[in-house]
Amino acid sequence: MDRILDLDLRAITPFLGESELTSWIGKALTAFDTLTSRKGKGSDFLGWLDLPSAMQTGVINRTESIVKRWSTGIEVIVVVGIGGSYLGAKAVIDALSGSFDLHLAGFAKPVIVYAGNNLSEDYLQELTELLQERSVACVVISKSGTTTEPAVAFRIIKNLMEKRYGKQEASERIVAITDKSQGSLKELSDREGYTSFIIPDDVGGRFSVFSPSGILPAALAGVDIHSLLEGAASMEKICSARSKENPAIIYAALRNALYSKGKKIEILVNYNPKLQYFAEWWKQLFGESEGKDGKGIFPASLNFTTDLHSMGQYIQGGERTIFETVISVKNPSGKITVPQDPQNFDRLNFLAGKRLDECNKMAELGTLIAHMEGGVPTIRIEIPLLNSFYLGALMYMFEFSCGLSAYMLGVNPFDQPGVEDYKKNMFALLGKPGYEELAEKLKNLLK
Ligand code: PA5
Repeated sequence: MDRILDLDLRAITPFLGESELTSWIGKALTAFDTLTSRKGKGSDFLGWLDLPSAMQTGVINRTESIVKRWSTGIEVIVVVGIGGSYLGAKAVIDALSGSFDLHLAGFAKPVIVYAGNNLSEDYLQELTELLQERSVACVVISKSGTTTEPAVAFRIIKNLMEKRYGKQEASERIVAITDKSQGSLKELSDREGYTSFIIPDDVGGRFSVFSPSGILPAALAGVDIHSLLEGAASMEKICSARSKENPAIIYAALRNALYSKGKKIEILVNYNPKLQYFAEWWKQLFGESEGKDGKGIFPASLNFTTDLHSMGQYIQGGERTIFETVISVKNPSGKITVPQDPQNFDRLNFLAGKRLDECNKMAELGTLIAHMEGGVPTIRIEIPLLNSFYLGALMYMFEFSCGLSAYMLGVNPFDQPGVEDYKKNMFALLGKPGYEELAEKLKNLLK
């Protein structure tokens, strides 16, 4: 088997001397000790560390029985959730599904759609119209069981399903993934008799992709979850080594070294549109874990070469506060060669016979060099193939490295106190009982 992933630091060396890197690796090793001794901030949320290797057969069996139950007769599965309760699943599903599956197969096999990740009335209107003609099932995911966006969307979808199928059949078409004992969703799920899965107490949303929140939707979309977990478990083993070769340690060291040199924005770049939501998942992971106490690298993402034609100028010539992390897939799954054209009006015969992937790789290399020369360091992470095994491995590496990196910054990686602020204001503005005083204060603030 190929190496699981390769870190290519050629476009970092002009920015970071060897002794500097060694010193930052030392700091990352200290963060490794903090994380693995389970003595750091937020250490009661470290259940994700061994989720892949400790996945229970019972959970897999129950997952597979739902996949079987819904494999015929269901056209649309609505996955309701927000933040860590949907991004991991969507990242995996988008990366591993065909870009045109729906166009090719119609609704011949269950199609996954998402709800509860926004409050747009237009979005939900269009979704309910799609569901009108289709046989529907629903997976509702919320660790706290109290988040407004998914709760409101679920109320609407549940209502629609109960009107169509009656209460009993609707409840057979709904699965809830939530806390083992608390929250409104847990209570609702128990009352309605939904099949349910637990997100372990010590696993936070953005670290939950290898729990039922990621595994069940992925399995329903046809992803090989065994291989996804195998890849993650292989990386779990690699990351558990207190070693300068550990990719999670190197990545955490590099990020913090660059941050200390004023590179305050990290752009996760892909050269394959299937990885767009992988970047969304990664942004939440690092943004919500590190953006605290006035500190933290701002995680952004771009899809190349697409965005080179919109954001390329800024990266090449704008403020020099950026570094990039490129996810490069060594071998594409497809095979397309540029054809020879005897007339050559488009003057592209110099490309004839070349794989499209070669053009993509040369765009990648050309960009890496141009950005390096323009003052933008690039960390390049290569995986051999975009498949479930390597994807699982890559996701685990980022989770582990995120824990280290946040400890290096001196923040608690596992809480998100800032997320509560908008919620309180929204509740006050919507007239939720108990928020009257805040509502009054907000009115005065905007006068
Ligand atoms: O990482 C987190 O904890 C958050 O992003 C949550 O996943 C998100 O806010 C959704 O929360 P819940 O699953 O409780 O509905």
